[in-house]
Amino acid sequence: MTRPLGITVSRHIMDSQRLHPEATGDLTGLLNELIVAAKTISAEVNMAGLADILGMSGKTNIQGEHVQKLDDFANNTIKRRMARCGYICAMTSEEEADIIPVVEGYEGKYTLAFDPLDGSSNIDVNVSIGTIFSIHRRLSPDGGPGDESDLLQPAGRQVAAGYIIYGSSTMLVFTTGEGVQGFTLDPSVGEFFLSHPDIRIPEKSKYLSVNEGNYRYWQEPVRRYIEYLKEEDRATGRPYSARYIGSMVADFHRNLIAGGVFLYPSDSKDPTKPYGKLRLLYEAAPMAFLVEQAGGRAITDDGLEISEIQPDGLHQRVPLVVGSRRDVDLYQEFIRGQR
Ligand code: AHG
Ligand code: MN
Ligand code: MN
Repeated sequence: MTRPLGITVSRHIMDSQRLHPEATGDLTGLLNELIVAAKTISAEVNMAGLADILGMSGKTNIQGEHVQKLDDFANNTIKRRMARCGYICAMTSEEEADIIPVVEGYEGKYTLAFDPLDGSSNIDVNVSIGTIFSIHRRLSPDGGPGDESDLLQPAGRQVAAGYIIYGSSTMLVFTTGEGVQGFTLDPSVGEFFLSHPDIRIPEKSKYLSVNEGNYRYWQEPVRRYIEYLKEEDRATGRPYSARYIGSMVADFHRNLIAGGVFLYPSDSKDPTKPYGKLRLLYEAAPMAFLVEQAGGRAITDDGLEISEIQPDGLHQRVPLVVGSRRDVDLYQEFIRGQR
């Protein structure tokens, strides 16, 4: 019996590199190293219910949240592998306060920002979680360590971005600025195979993803938009169906494939976090690059394009509205007072 000959992710990346004779192969190398880290995390996540790894590690991270053991595992796996890969000059992780240097002598020309495990409140209940990454070309001259300014670049200048979702199967979805490709891990072979070529997000959607428990803390335009999507009007496909997992990577993935709009707006729940919960470098920026490459749109809750924001801190939070283009455009009409 023979298996169908699938396109592996490494083959796909090599084939894309061949279309760019000027490419040095560094981005290919970087992505391949990240993929190995992702496979390692995927194996651990799948074992989570069996190994004594579930539960809190007892530590608190820079965001003041409890760090779970799998968060630590994922963070260390990426950090250790990437510190010696030779393709990056600095890293930043959602789980670490400061910039993470690479091993001396291994400094490369890119930077890496990552959320090692997104949706970690869902680990203990067997709901999909993921790893998110964002890659920029360094600004400082090649050679020598990178600094914070290399990492504080707008989303619109990303060279590559993507995520790995540990769901009913493990998938890798990424872009290098030439569309969005999705790969599914065949665990029996240990390879990602191209399963979702050239993903396009539906123009208009039917899914609304937001934590509606925060309704009373939102600003007026957000409330009115959500109310509007819940009104009945068959001609415009309303009411929308609500879908909210609480793992952004999983909510985003569903919306990317099936169409949808995801919001994490500013709220008045916690005065120390006026801009909602999501972080620009690790969550909003990579998702903005992906969604735009798939034909969708990402803005803040007051209408700024995520891709144009100049970050001013590694852990900066940003209110986010992301998804199908027409739904995000519609939201903008609400904040402009046109509806
Ligand atoms: P993380 O687990 O990396 O800290 O991120 C969790 C984020 C995101 O995945 C999700 O969309 C959001 O938190 C859910 O927040 P609420 O529980 O406030 O809805
Ligand atoms: Mn996250
Ligand atoms: Mn996280």
